[in-house]
Amino acid sequence: MEEILPEEHEVDPTSADYYFDSYAHFGIHEEMLKDTVRTKTYQNVIYENGFLFKDKVVLDVGAGTGILSLFCAKGGAKHVYAVECSLMANTAKEIIQKNGYSDVITVLKGKVEEIELPVQQVDVIISEWMGYFLLFENMLDTVLYARDKWLVPGGVVLPDRTSLHLTAIEDADYKHEKINFWSSVYGFDMSCIKKQAMLEPLVDTVEPNQIVTQTQLIKTMDISNMTPGDVSFSAPFKLVATRNDFIHALVAYFDVSFTKCHKVVGFSTGPRSRPTHWKQTVLYLEDVITICEGEALTGKMSVAPNARNPRDVDIVVEYTFNGKRSQASRRQHFRMR
Ligand SMILES: C[S@@+](CC[C@H](N)C(=O)[O-])C[C@H]1O[C@@H](n2cnc3c(N)ncnc32)[C@H](O)[C@@H]1O
Repeated sequence: MEEILPEEHEVDPTSADYYFDSYAHFGIHEEMLKDTVRTKTYQNVIYENGFLFKDKVVLDVGAGTGILSLFCAKGGAKHVYAVECSLMANTAKEIIQKNGYSDVITVLKGKVEEIELPVQQVDVIISEWMGYFLLFENMLDTVLYARDKWLVPGGVVLPDRTSLHLTAIEDADYKHEKINFWSSVYGFDMSCIKKQAMLEPLVDTVEPNQIVTQTQLIKTMDISNMTPGDVSFSAPFKLVATRNDFIHALVAYFDVSFTKCHKVVGFSTGPRSRPTHWKQTVLYLEDVITICEGEALTGKMSVAPNARNPRDVDIVVEYTFNGKRSQASRRQHFRMR
Protein backbone atom coordinates (compact mmCIF):
# COMPACT_ATOMS: atom_id res chain seq x y z
CA MET A 1 0.00 0.00 0.00
CA GLU A 2 1.32 3.43 -0.88
CA GLU A 3 2.01 5.58 2.14
CA ILE A 4 1.11 9.27 1.76
CA LEU A 5 3.52 11.36 3.78
CA PRO A 6 2.86 14.97 4.69
CA GLU A 7 4.99 17.56 2.95
CA GLU A 8 8.15 18.15 4.93
CA HIS A 9 7.19 21.78 5.68
CA GLU A 10 3.93 20.55 7.21
CA VAL A 11 5.69 18.50 9.90
CA ASP A 12 8.70 20.67 10.45
CA PRO A 13 8.26 24.26 9.28
CA THR A 14 11.47 26.21 8.74
CA SER A 15 12.05 29.93 9.19
CA ALA A 16 11.37 30.32 5.45
CA ASP A 17 7.86 28.91 5.97
CA TYR A 18 7.30 31.37 8.82
CA TYR A 19 8.62 34.24 6.73
CA PHE A 20 5.95 33.70 4.09
CA ASP A 21 3.30 32.50 6.52
CA SER A 22 3.55 34.33 9.84
CA TYR A 23 0.30 32.77 11.06
CA ALA A 24 1.90 29.30 10.86
CA HIS A 25 3.83 29.98 14.08
CA PHE A 26 2.06 29.51 17.42
CA GLY A 27 3.57 32.75 18.82
CA ILE A 28 1.20 35.08 16.97
CA HIS A 29 -1.78 32.95 18.05
CA GLU A 30 -0.54 33.00 21.63
CA GLU A 31 -0.54 36.80 21.52
CA MET A 32 -4.09 36.88 20.13
CA LEU A 33 -5.45 34.26 22.54
CA LYS A 34 -3.89 36.06 25.52
CA ASP A 35 -5.54 39.29 24.42
CA THR A 36 -8.46 38.73 26.78
CA VAL A 37 -10.32 41.88 25.71
CA ARG A 38 -10.48 40.38 22.23
CA THR A 39 -10.94 36.69 22.94
CA LYS A 40 -13.32 36.99 25.91
CA THR A 41 -15.56 39.35 23.96
CA TYR A 42 -15.98 36.70 21.24
CA GLN A 43 -16.47 34.03 23.91
CA ASN A 44 -19.17 36.06 25.68
CA VAL A 45 -20.89 36.91 22.40
CA ILE A 46 -21.12 33.20 21.56
CA TYR A 47 -21.94 31.75 24.99
CA GLU A 48 -24.43 34.45 25.97
CA ASN A 49 -26.31 34.58 22.67
CA GLY A 50 -27.27 30.96 22.11
CA PHE A 51 -30.18 32.07 19.90
CA LEU A 52 -27.67 33.17 17.22
CA PHE A 53 -25.87 29.79 17.14
CA LYS A 54 -28.24 27.02 18.25
CA ASP A 55 -28.59 24.54 15.37
CA LYS A 56 -26.97 27.01 12.97
CA VAL A 57 -24.32 26.38 10.33
CA VAL A 58 -21.34 28.63 11.01
CA LEU A 59 -18.38 29.66 8.86
CA ASP A 60 -15.24 30.71 10.75
CA VAL A 61 -13.21 32.87 8.36
CA GLY A 62 -9.50 32.58 9.22
CA ALA A 63 -9.85 30.06 12.05
CA GLY A 64 -6.22 30.06 13.29
CA THR A 65 -6.07 27.66 16.25
CA GLY A 66 -9.82 27.07 15.87
CA ILE A 67 -10.74 28.94 19.05
CA LEU A 68 -13.83 30.69 17.65
CA SER A 69 -15.02 27.45 16.04
CA LEU A 70 -14.66 25.68 19.39
CA PHE A 71 -16.66 28.43 21.12
CA CYS A 72 -19.38 28.09 18.45
CA ALA A 73 -19.47 24.29 18.70
CA LYS A 74 -19.71 24.49 22.48
CA GLY A 75 -22.34 27.21 22.10
CA GLY A 76 -24.65 24.84 20.23
CA ALA A 77 -23.86 25.31 16.51
CA LYS A 78 -25.07 22.46 14.30
CA HIS A 79 -21.89 22.54 12.22
CA VAL A 80 -18.88 24.82 11.93
CA TYR A 81 -16.63 25.14 8.89
CA ALA A 82 -13.26 26.44 10.02
CA VAL A 83 -11.27 27.82 7.09
CA GLU A 84 -7.60 28.58 7.62
CA CYS A 85 -4.96 29.13 4.96
CA SER A 86 -1.83 28.83 7.10
CA LEU A 87 -0.12 25.67 8.33
CA MET A 88 -1.92 26.31 11.62
CA ALA A 89 -4.90 24.55 9.97
CA ASN A 90 -3.23 21.20 10.67
CA THR A 91 -2.78 22.12 14.32
CA ALA A 92 -6.39 23.35 14.53
CA LYS A 93 -7.53 19.94 13.28
CA GLU A 94 -5.51 18.25 16.01
CA ILE A 95 -6.88 20.61 18.69
CA ILE A 96 -10.46 20.07 17.56
CA GLN A 97 -10.02 16.30 17.58
CA LYS A 98 -8.37 16.33 21.01
CA ASN A 99 -11.30 18.29 22.42
CA GLY A 100 -13.90 15.95 20.93
CA TYR A 101 -15.42 18.31 18.38
CA SER A 102 -14.41 16.62 15.13
CA ASP A 103 -18.02 15.70 14.38
CA VAL A 104 -19.18 19.31 14.65
CA ILE A 105 -16.19 21.23 13.23
CA THR A 106 -14.72 20.64 9.78
CA VAL A 107 -11.35 22.30 9.19
CA LEU A 108 -10.73 23.32 5.59
CA LYS A 109 -7.14 24.22 4.82
CA GLY A 110 -6.86 26.86 2.14
CA LYS A 111 -7.80 30.39 1.23
CA VAL A 112 -11.43 31.34 1.68
CA GLU A 113 -11.29 32.66 -1.88
CA GLU A 114 -10.14 29.27 -3.21
CA ILE A 115 -11.76 26.53 -1.12
CA GLU A 116 -14.97 24.66 -1.87
CA LEU A 117 -17.43 24.66 1.01
CA PRO A 118 -19.42 21.38 1.33
CA VAL A 119 -22.63 23.44 1.81
CA GLN A 120 -24.30 26.07 -0.35
CA GLN A 121 -25.10 28.46 2.47
CA VAL A 122 -24.22 29.28 6.07
CA ASP A 123 -26.34 31.00 8.72
CA VAL A 124 -23.52 32.77 10.54
CA ILE A 125 -20.10 34.09 9.56
CA ILE A 126 -17.72 34.72 12.40
CA SER A 127 -14.25 36.17 11.99
CA GLU A 128 -11.54 38.05 13.78
CA TRP A 129 -10.15 39.90 10.80
CA MET A 130 -9.15 43.26 12.30
CA GLY A 131 -5.59 44.45 11.69
CA TYR A 132 -3.56 47.33 13.06
CA PHE A 133 -5.29 50.60 12.17
CA LEU A 134 -8.29 48.29 11.59
CA LEU A 135 -7.49 47.76 7.93
CA PHE A 136 -3.87 46.59 7.82
CA GLU A 137 -3.61 43.16 6.14
CA ASN A 138 -6.93 43.77 4.41
CA MET A 139 -8.63 40.61 5.68
CA LEU A 140 -11.98 42.39 5.68
CA ASP A 141 -12.14 41.75 1.92
CA THR A 142 -12.04 38.01 2.65
CA VAL A 143 -14.98 38.31 5.06
CA LEU A 144 -16.99 40.28 2.50
CA TYR A 145 -16.16 37.67 -0.16
CA ALA A 146 -17.43 34.89 2.15
CA ARG A 147 -20.55 36.93 3.03
CA ASP A 148 -21.47 37.46 -0.62
CA LYS A 149 -20.79 33.84 -1.59
CA TRP A 150 -22.29 31.81 1.27
CA LEU A 151 -24.30 33.84 3.76
CA VAL A 152 -27.99 32.96 3.69
CA PRO A 153 -30.29 35.99 3.20
CA GLY A 154 -30.93 37.35 6.69
CA GLY A 155 -27.81 35.61 8.01
CA VAL A 156 -25.52 37.15 10.59
CA VAL A 157 -21.95 38.45 10.33
CA LEU A 158 -20.05 38.69 13.62
CA PRO A 159 -18.84 41.27 14.41
CA ASP A 160 -21.00 43.52 12.24
CA ARG A 161 -19.95 47.07 13.14
CA THR A 162 -16.61 48.83 13.42
CA SER A 163 -15.59 52.44 13.72
CA LEU A 164 -12.33 54.30 13.32
CA HIS A 165 -11.50 57.24 15.60
CA LEU A 166 -8.89 59.97 15.61
CA THR A 167 -7.43 62.12 18.38
CA ALA A 168 -4.21 64.12 18.93
CA ILE A 169 -1.43 63.74 21.50
CA GLU A 170 1.55 65.41 23.08
CA ASP A 171 4.50 63.08 22.51
CA ALA A 172 7.70 65.15 22.54
CA ASP A 173 9.98 62.61 24.25
CA TYR A 174 9.02 59.59 22.20
CA LYS A 175 8.94 61.51 18.91
CA HIS A 176 12.46 62.65 19.70
CA GLU A 177 13.53 59.09 20.51
CA LYS A 178 11.98 57.59 17.36
CA ILE A 179 12.52 60.34 14.78
CA ASN A 180 15.31 62.70 15.84
CA PHE A 181 17.39 59.68 16.85
CA TRP A 182 18.42 59.39 13.20
CA SER A 183 20.01 62.87 13.14
CA SER A 184 23.10 61.63 14.92
CA VAL A 185 23.70 57.93 15.41
CA TYR A 186 27.01 57.37 17.23
CA GLY A 187 28.05 60.69 15.68
CA PHE A 188 26.92 59.85 12.12
CA ASP A 189 24.15 61.62 10.20
CA MET A 190 21.49 59.05 9.30
CA SER A 191 18.74 61.61 8.88
CA CYS A 192 17.77 60.12 5.49
CA ILE A 193 16.06 57.38 7.55
CA LYS A 194 13.96 60.05 9.27
CA LYS A 195 11.82 60.36 6.14
CA GLN A 196 11.10 56.63 6.19
CA ALA A 197 10.40 56.71 9.93
CA MET A 198 7.94 59.58 9.49
CA LEU A 199 6.18 57.68 6.71
CA GLU A 200 5.41 54.63 8.83
CA PRO A 201 2.73 54.90 11.48
CA LEU A 202 3.89 53.53 14.79
CA VAL A 203 1.86 50.84 16.54
CA ASP A 204 2.22 51.57 20.23
CA THR A 205 0.37 52.25 23.45
CA VAL A 206 -0.58 55.84 24.18
CA GLU A 207 -1.12 57.05 27.76
CA PRO A 208 -4.51 58.71 28.29
CA ASN A 209 -2.80 61.76 29.83
CA GLN A 210 -1.08 62.43 26.48
CA ILE A 211 -4.41 63.17 24.81
CA VAL A 212 -4.74 66.87 24.05
CA THR A 213 -7.97 67.10 22.03
CA GLN A 214 -11.43 65.63 21.76
CA THR A 215 -11.86 62.52 19.65
CA GLN A 216 -13.38 62.49 16.17
CA LEU A 217 -15.28 59.58 14.62
CA ILE A 218 -13.70 59.13 11.18
CA LYS A 219 -15.58 56.19 9.72
CA THR A 220 -18.20 53.59 10.59
CA MET A 221 -18.41 50.31 8.72
CA ASP A 222 -21.45 48.07 8.65
CA ILE A 223 -19.98 44.67 7.75
CA SER A 224 -23.41 43.23 6.85
CA ASN A 225 -24.02 45.77 4.08
CA MET A 226 -20.76 47.44 3.04
CA THR A 227 -18.92 46.79 -0.21
CA PRO A 228 -15.16 46.14 -0.56
CA GLY A 229 -14.81 49.64 -2.05
CA ASP A 230 -15.93 51.18 1.27
CA VAL A 231 -12.49 50.52 2.78
CA SER A 232 -11.25 53.46 0.68
CA PHE A 233 -12.59 56.71 2.07
CA SER A 234 -11.91 60.33 2.95
CA ALA A 235 -13.27 61.98 6.06
CA PRO A 236 -12.93 65.46 7.54
CA PHE A 237 -11.81 65.92 11.13
CA LYS A 238 -11.95 68.71 13.68
CA LEU A 239 -9.95 68.09 16.84
CA VAL A 240 -10.75 70.64 19.54
CA ALA A 241 -8.11 71.08 22.24
CA THR A 242 -9.19 70.31 25.79
CA ARG A 243 -6.15 72.10 27.30
CA ASN A 244 -3.15 74.24 26.35
CA ASP A 245 -0.51 71.86 25.02
CA PHE A 246 1.61 70.80 22.03
CA ILE A 247 0.47 68.32 19.39
CA HIS A 248 3.13 66.01 17.99
CA ALA A 249 0.98 63.26 16.56
CA LEU A 250 -2.46 62.05 15.59
CA VAL A 251 -3.61 58.78 17.07
CA ALA A 252 -6.05 56.40 15.39
CA TYR A 253 -7.87 53.47 16.98
CA PHE A 254 -10.94 51.37 16.30
CA ASP A 255 -13.97 50.01 18.13
CA VAL A 256 -15.80 46.78 17.27
CA SER A 257 -19.42 45.86 18.05
CA PHE A 258 -21.69 42.87 17.78
CA THR A 259 -25.05 44.58 17.37
CA LYS A 260 -27.02 41.40 16.61
CA CYS A 261 -26.54 40.16 20.18
CA HIS A 262 -29.39 40.30 22.68
CA LYS A 263 -27.55 43.30 24.15
CA VAL A 264 -24.94 45.11 22.02
CA VAL A 265 -21.45 43.92 22.98
CA GLY A 266 -18.06 45.13 21.80
CA PHE A 267 -14.69 46.53 22.71
CA SER A 268 -12.55 49.55 22.03
CA THR A 269 -8.85 49.64 21.22
CA GLY A 270 -8.65 53.28 22.31
CA PRO A 271 -6.07 54.70 24.73
CA ARG A 272 -8.68 55.07 27.49
CA SER A 273 -9.75 51.41 27.29
CA ARG A 274 -8.09 48.23 28.51
CA PRO A 275 -5.05 47.59 26.29
CA THR A 276 -5.28 45.10 23.45
CA HIS A 277 -2.61 43.65 21.16
CA TRP A 278 -3.69 46.20 18.51
CA LYS A 279 -2.47 49.03 20.77
CA GLN A 280 -3.02 52.37 18.94
CA THR A 281 -1.64 53.77 15.69
CA VAL A 282 0.47 56.91 16.03
CA LEU A 283 0.99 59.22 13.05
CA TYR A 284 3.73 61.76 13.74
CA LEU A 285 3.17 65.23 12.28
CA GLU A 286 5.95 67.18 10.59
CA ASP A 287 4.92 70.26 12.61
CA VAL A 288 4.77 70.71 16.34
CA ILE A 289 1.48 72.51 16.94
CA THR A 290 1.14 74.86 19.90
CA ILE A 291 -2.56 74.67 20.62
CA CYS A 292 -4.68 76.54 23.17
CA GLU A 293 -7.76 75.14 24.86
CA GLY A 294 -10.78 75.50 22.55
CA GLU A 295 -8.74 75.88 19.35
CA ALA A 296 -9.17 73.25 16.63
CA LEU A 297 -6.86 71.32 14.37
CA THR A 298 -8.90 70.66 11.25
CA GLY A 299 -8.24 68.53 8.22
CA LYS A 300 -9.03 65.44 6.20
CA MET A 301 -7.89 61.84 6.44
CA SER A 302 -7.91 59.64 3.33
CA VAL A 303 -7.44 55.89 3.59
CA ALA A 304 -7.03 53.28 0.85
CA PRO A 305 -5.37 49.90 0.30
CA ASN A 306 -2.01 50.37 -1.43
CA ALA A 307 -2.30 49.82 -5.17
CA ARG A 308 0.79 47.58 -5.42
CA ASN A 309 0.23 45.63 -2.21
CA PRO A 310 -3.41 45.76 -1.08
CA ARG A 311 -2.42 44.35 2.36
CA ASP A 312 -0.66 47.68 3.06
CA VAL A 313 -2.67 50.81 3.80
CA ASP A 314 -2.01 54.28 2.39
CA ILE A 315 -3.07 57.12 4.67
CA VAL A 316 -3.00 60.78 3.66
CA VAL A 317 -3.55 63.46 6.28
CA GLU A 318 -4.18 67.06 5.30
CA TYR A 319 -4.29 69.51 8.18
CA THR A 320 -4.58 73.23 8.81
CA PHE A 321 -4.08 75.06 12.04
CA ASN A 322 -4.50 78.74 12.64
CA GLY A 323 -4.06 79.33 16.34
CA LYS A 324 -3.03 82.23 18.53
CA ARG A 325 0.44 80.79 19.08
CA SER A 326 1.17 78.71 15.97
CA GLN A 327 0.03 78.13 12.41
CA ALA A 328 0.51 75.14 10.12
CA SER A 329 -0.81 73.71 6.89
CA ARG A 330 0.41 70.48 5.39
CA ARG A 331 -0.35 67.28 3.49
CA GLN A 332 1.40 64.19 4.85
CA HIS A 333 1.58 60.64 3.49
CA PHE A 334 1.79 57.53 5.64
CA ARG A 335 1.99 53.85 4.78
CA MET A 336 1.16 50.94 7.08
CA ARG A 337 3.38 48.03 6.04
C1 LIG B 1 -6.30 37.46 13.16
S1 LIG B 1 -6.12 35.74 12.92
C2 LIG B 1 -7.49 35.10 13.88
C3 LIG B 1 -7.35 33.63 14.22
C4 LIG B 1 -8.49 33.05 15.07
N1 LIG B 1 -9.77 33.20 14.41
C5 LIG B 1 -8.55 33.68 16.44
O1 LIG B 1 -9.50 34.42 16.68
O2 LIG B 1 -7.64 33.45 17.23
C6 LIG B 1 -6.63 35.58 11.26
C7 LIG B 1 -6.39 34.21 10.66
O3 LIG B 1 -6.94 34.22 9.35
C8 LIG B 1 -6.11 33.52 8.46
N2 LIG B 1 -6.40 34.05 7.11
C9 LIG B 1 -6.10 35.27 6.62
N3 LIG B 1 -6.54 35.42 5.36
C10 LIG B 1 -7.14 34.25 5.04
C11 LIG B 1 -7.80 33.77 3.86
N4 LIG B 1 -7.91 34.55 2.77
N5 LIG B 1 -8.27 32.52 3.87
C12 LIG B 1 -8.15 31.71 4.98
N6 LIG B 1 -7.55 32.11 6.11
C13 LIG B 1 -7.06 33.37 6.16
C14 LIG B 1 -4.71 33.80 8.98
O4 LIG B 1 -3.79 32.79 8.57
C15 LIG B 1 -4.93 33.84 10.50
O5 LIG B 1 -4.69 32.58 11.08
